[in-house]
Amino acid sequence: MVADRIRQVEISGIRRMFDAAPADAINLGLGEPDFDPPAVVLDAICAAVRGGMNHYGPSAGLAELREAIAERYRDRVPATGRENVLVTGSGSEGLMAVALTLYNPGDEVLVPDPGFVLYGPHARLAGARPVPYSLGADRRYLPDFDELERLVTRRTRAIVVNSPSNPTGAVFPPSVVDRIATFAERHELTIVSDEVYEEIVYDGPATSFWGRSDRVVIVNSFSKTLAMTGWRIGFLVAPRDLAVELNKAHYHIMACPPTPTQVAVLAGLRAGTEATRAMVREFRARRALVTRRLASVPGLSLVPPAGAFYVFPRFRWPGTALEVATALLARGVVTTPGDAFGSRGAGHLRLSFAASRDALEQGLGILREYAREIDANPPDRREARARAP
Ligand SMILES: Cc1ncc(COP(=O)(O)O)c(C=O)c1O
Repeated sequence: MVADRIRQVEISGIRRMFDAAPADAINLGLGEPDFDPPAVVLDAICAAVRGGMNHYGPSAGLAELREAIAERYRDRVPATGRENVLVTGSGSEGLMAVALTLYNPGDEVLVPDPGFVLYGPHARLAGARPVPYSLGADRRYLPDFDELERLVTRRTRAIVVNSPSNPTGAVFPPSVVDRIATFAERHELTIVSDEVYEEIVYDGPATSFWGRSDRVVIVNSFSKTLAMTGWRIGFLVAPRDLAVELNKAHYHIMACPPTPTQVAVLAGLRAGTEATRAMVREFRARRALVTRRLASVPGLSLVPPAGAFYVFPRFRWPGTALEVATALLARGVVTTPGDAFGSRGAGHLRLSFAASRDALEQGLGILREYAREIDANPPDRREARARAP
């Protein structure tokens, strides 16, 4: 009854844990800030809907908002204009529009493993084949260029990159960004750079790919920076001729982005970045709390995140990531199994620190108890071997 393409994709493992979580669980699984949008933004959306901004708008987004977004990219490329910008109905929709616009059936697309859950399925829905490249803990979750050279073929069309990364929290240093740009140029690949966590960084700024390569599409979103994951609004930045093509896909997905939300976001941009910076200050304190607590958990190792709001510890306990996450869920704490982000996420858990300090203390306390019990009372070795992946 349904088309083959839809049989090739599943709802992500993150969503499944989300749906399985009891209401009173301590939720360290959520990929969204536990903040409200800034007051100026809330006031602006109320005024917009009361003031009649409830109708279709231009497919590419309101001109003033596109202009305000372009303005933020002029430090990287001074000629960036509104023609480079499309307002989308979220980063997720932007990613889908990119896949439909760039990938032909039979193309190959390099996707990070572990990496955000939409890249592979979107490539498949467009008829392309995702080819995972590894971001291992041993390399501090940075790409291995020898491996990339081995994976690239005549059919490779694009490389998807995500820095700061969900789930690892790694931020690519400028040298890695430039090396990826050179690699992509040499193989005539388009870079799809997902920069939705760009402003959520702790040890210095993230390096955007805008201005580092001519063959790049930036995927961005207001979900995280303005704490409005439920509002569904994001944007793409691309070379002008490509933006025209992207707008066709975007139009056929959703006609136009929501009008009142755009008015509100514009008010947020005009108010400056203090609200985001205040949120990041709190996340920085929580990062310190989480890394300190995890250091005392037996059987865990961690590369501290430099951006986003996740830690991605590796565990040396028996059982798969799903089994460990399920055992923790039974004790009242929601985590995300690392292999929800690709096979190289096996043996990891993703914990979000976009949760209150209280929730973090309690959740990490449960995790420590679990680890101590395993440490004191290791399960039968044969059983452990039988369950190894
Ligand atoms: C890396 C990454 N990209 C894109 C998105 C999509 O964000 P949204 O659709 O809310 O804009 C997310 C959301 O979790 C993400 O983590």
